[in-house]
Order: sequence, then C-alpha cells, then structure tokens
Amino acid sequence: MAITLEQVAKTSIDTLIDEAALQARVRELGEQLSRDYGGQDLLLVCILRGGVMFLTDLMRQLSIPHNIDFMAVASYEEGVRQSDGMVRITMDLLTDIQGRNVLLVEDIVDTGHTLSRVLDLLGTRLPASLRVCCLLDKHERREAKVPIDYIGFQIPDKFVFGYGLDMDQYWRNLPYIGVARSDPASGP
Ligand code: IMP
Repeated sequence: MAITLEQVAKTSIDTLIDEAALQARVRELGEQLSRDYGGQDLLLVCILRGGVMFLTDLMRQLSIPHNIDFMAVASYEEGVRQSDGMVRITMDLLTDIQGRNVLLVEDIVDTGHTLSRVLDLLGTRLPASLRVCCLLDKHERREAKVPIDYIGFQIPDKFVFGYGLDMDQYWRNLPYIGVARSDPASGP
C-alpha cells in the first residue's frame, strides 16, 4: 500500500550521505569523466526519475562538451521496495545512439536487474561505447552481473531516499541521501 501524506510528514530521517560529501564526490566524478572523455563525443543518458538530480549536478561539473537524453524504466510497483526482476521501458530515448559514446547516469544499482535490462537494450543499438556511472552502489544486494565504470558511493543494504531517489514518490527533493529511522530495513 502507498504511503500516506500523514506518514510522510512523520518520517524521521537520518542522514546517510550529507550534501557536502555528495557535492564533493560529484565534482570528482565530473573531473574524472572530463579527463576520460576529453576530445570525444559524449552522450549522457539519464534514467528517470531517480537519476535527475545527479545528472544535473554532474553536468555542471563536466568541463567538456556533451549532450543529454532521458529514458524511463519501471522496476518497482508503487509501495513495493523489492525488485521482482521485471523491468519495463516506459519512455525511450529521442537520440539515435549508433556510433555515440553513451554514459548511463543512474541513481542507484541495487539488484542490477534494471541496469542489466537497459544495457542489453542499448547495446543492440550499436553505440561506439556504453558505460555506466551510478551514484550509489548497493553491492550486497546484487543479483544480476552488471559492469559499473564509475561509482559515487558504495552503500550498505538500506532503503535510501533523497537527492532524486524516492520513498514511494516522496523525498526526492532532499539535498542529501537519507534513510528512514523507523524503516526495519535500516537496522538499529
Ligand atoms: P535494481 O533493478 O534492483 O538495481 O533497482 C534499481 C532501481 O530501483 C533504482 O534505479 C531505483 O529507482 C530503485 N531503488 C533501488 N534501491 C533503492 C533505494 O534504496 N531507494 C530508492 N530507490 C531504490
């Protein structure tokens, strides 16, 4: 069942990664990507909706020319916090990626099913290169083997939200990564 507005208002949030740490790491990633893709074509592909805040901050840390595009996938049903391995593409790219250097910008890799599905799909479109930059890596929960080229932070097996990530569609606006204090998955 979806969370109610009253429950949202009562959520006590602990900070897992604060704003300064996030911004510092995004700056480092931007510098690294600017070096790695210097002099090359680069297309950032953001997976909506969770990756949007990461994308917009990352873009501002890139000193090289680049394009952006968006796609959307649905992996979890509303109110459910477990991936069932079923991933649907709900909005496709507008850009033809054949021959382009594509960098997928993801908010979080959890089981890896979403990323695996997206990589399979985009791979069939013959990009010159296809790499992944994810902000958060919940590696303990991995079920699908997926290559990740750039990782912001490794995080423990906790349900997190903020900085674009949602808890039942709320809290995307937080400038930090939080974890609900009352969430049994967040531990003592
Ligand atoms: P995966 O397919 O299990 O790797 O899940 C990937 C997607 O699930 C992410 O892009 C998020 O949208 C969502 N997700 C996974 N873990 C979390 C979390 O802790 N908080 C919020 N969303 C999550």
